[in-house]
Amino acid sequence: MPRQPMVVGNWKMNGTRAFAVQLTSAIRDGINASTLAGEVLLCPPFPYLELVHGLVQGTAIQIGGQNHADRQNGPCTGEVSASMLRDLGCRAVILGHSERRTLFHESDTLVADKADLALQAGLTPIVCLGETLQQRQEKETLTVIRHQLQPLLPHMANHPQPPDSWILAYEPVWAIGTGQNAQTEQIQEVHAFIRQLLQEEIGSTIASGWRILYGGSVTPGNAADIFSLPDVDGGLIGGASLKADSFLAIIAALSNHR
Ligand code: PGA
Repeated sequence: MPRQPMVVGNWKMNGTRAFAVQLTSAIRDGINASTLAGEVLLCPPFPYLELVHGLVQGTAIQIGGQNHADRQNGPCTGEVSASMLRDLGCRAVILGHSERRTLFHESDTLVADKADLALQAGLTPIVCLGETLQQRQEKETLTVIRHQLQPLLPHMANHPQPPDSWILAYEPVWAIGTGQNAQTEQIQEVHAFIRQLLQEEIGSTIASGWRILYGGSVTPGNAADIFSLPDVDGGLIGGASLKADSFLAIIAALSNHR
């Protein structure tokens, strides 16, 4: 079965209520539903999820979270659970973004445990993987990716339902928010490596249905080239998802390509 491509807008910790309304409405009204060939997911900050959900209900756009707690509902002041995200209408959640790994010291194991909780709550985890510049320069990229994937594998084997149970995002840390996207050969190499590893560990039929997104300085200028790579199933977009014009152009690049 062909993998359905996807574009995810990761707003990070940006915006206001008014900005969320304006941006969501412009994206919703600007999408060409007749040519849209994939899924579009908006991931606003927690406080705006319900608002954004209300604005996109009944359209092709869905919403997702940017993170959730590493435990179920209970005494955990200040946290938000996977089941709360689901309750608000989220379809998926970004986990293990490099900003969370760096700023909040999230380990590979913690990210894997969160992914399991996401699945239990009915959310699709979008798990981010990626190497730092130093790791790439030291030719450790594939080793780092393998390490990051390792604790996920048992959870993947427990929840293997294709085609939608897992989404991975390759996001080289040095490409995030820097304007310096990875070269297409670098992207394809890592995506093919991830796919191969999943096929070996989980089984080829199941893993070949899971999507692998690329993230890191995707723009309207480079999206078409990146989306045309055989193992790239769409993008995780940060900065360019905060402007309706550029996000719409990236969605159009996805649709044109398929
Ligand atoms: P960027 O961010 O598109 O601004 O590089 C991507 C991300 O952090 O997911």
